[in-house]
Amino acid sequence: VETIDNGPRLLLVDDEEGFRDSLARRLELRGLHPVQAADGESCLQALDNEPVDVIVLDVKMPDMSGLDILPRVREDHPDTEVILLTGFANTADGVAGIKAGAFDYLAKPIEIDHLVGKIQQAMDKIRRQREKRKEKEFRERMEARMVVAERLASLGAVAGGVAHEINNPLAIINDAAGWLQDVVKQHQPDPPLDKLLAKGLEKITKSVERARLITHQLLLHARGTEPTLAETDMEALAEEARQLMDKEARNKDITISVQATGDATVTTDPHQLRQVLINLISNAIHASEENGQIDIAINGQEELVEISVQDYGVGIPQENLPRLLEPFFSTKAAGQGTGLGLFVTSVIVSRLGGTIDVESDEGKGANFIITLPREASSDDECSNLAGSMSDEMTCRISQALARNIK
Ligand SMILES: Nc1ncnc2c1ncn2[C@@H]1O[C@H](COP(=O)(O)OP(=O)(O)OP(=O)(O)O)[C@@H](O)[C@H]1O
Ligand SMILES: [Mg+2]
Repeated sequence: VETIDNGPRLLLVDDEEGFRDSLARRLELRGLHPVQAADGESCLQALDNEPVDVIVLDVKMPDMSGLDILPRVREDHPDTEVILLTGFANTADGVAGIKAGAFDYLAKPIEIDHLVGKIQQAMDKIRRQREKRKEKEFRERMEARMVVAERLASLGAVAGGVAHEINNPLAIINDAAGWLQDVVKQHQPDPPLDKLLAKGLEKITKSVERARLITHQLLLHARGTEPTLAETDMEALAEEARQLMDKEARNKDITISVQATGDATVTTDPHQLRQVLINLISNAIHASEENGQIDIAINGQEELVEISVQDYGVGIPQENLPRLLEPFFSTKAAGQGTGLGLFVTSVIVSRLGGTIDVESDEGKGANFIITLPREASSDDECSNLAGSMSDEMTCRISQALARNIK
């Protein structure tokens, strides 16, 4: 017999004790463990106490007949299936029962194999219904998540538009500051004023550069991503990411340390790696308690550089480990996390020729380790990142959808 959890939960209801006992014993011999009830009242009571998959219900009982009980079961316990037992000469009761929502009926005397077969069929029906419901719930959940992803995408498009618009005035300010700098150098013979002006102009130039970087980032996000390989000091980059997450960390009084051993320079895409670090730090902050600690360690070796982000927070349950990199996998409250952080991280890292590993003890924290080749190759595959990234995303998202729906 098909089992759900620890086997079908059976309830056997018949007023004749001898018949009930012997039927129960024969069912036990086939590995089924029915709970027994002697009348309608105790049947309904048993149902209220704990859920039942299948009720084997005698029709002819003194106080409340099986046909009286049936509508109440259908109403209050729609997931429970009912198999009626009718008298030999009273199969009309069975037909009436089916009309009222019974799964099926059997006429006494009961052929045990026949009954077991019916129970099996009822369980099949229950299982199909559960699967259908699960699928429906999953669809609804995915649709809700797609809405979030779409919102993010349109937000990205808006941000991209704004960034583009801001780039033009930034370029004008930058040119003007450069021109003023030249003027000051050549024509201002007043040293103290000269110094002040030069300082102010330098500030303008630096701020413009910073704003340009930000708009550049936004544009990258809006367009997908183009790789810009550059020699990158991972320690400086980690320091930068730490500063970007400083406010979030301080909200929980979390200390973030950055430590490097060996040669930390990598030829890679610094913008994308900054995003990777920010995703990992953000997750680590989220997983940590107040006053927690996060250690970022960079370990340069011969041909590769390892970057680990270690926290001492809630950790990751074993069963979640295989799903971490899946798009939309998140344990955060609805609407709180997109579940795209680690997915995007893994796509970036693999495109840069690296790998990502996770070590975690539940309750003791998590350690995410990124291993990068010292030099990311700038061959076609990599320079084609913009296109293939979104293709790969689409592909992996649809795979995840297909997997879950199955
Ligand atoms: N450092 C960590 N400690 C414990 N669990 C983690 C850690 N990092 C990730 N996880 C688990 O992995 C899940 C997926 O992480 P991911 O960054 O992809 O999405 P998210 O953080 O839930 O959403 P978002 O990144 O959009 O805020 C998290 O919901 C969390 O359950
Ligand atoms: Mg995250």
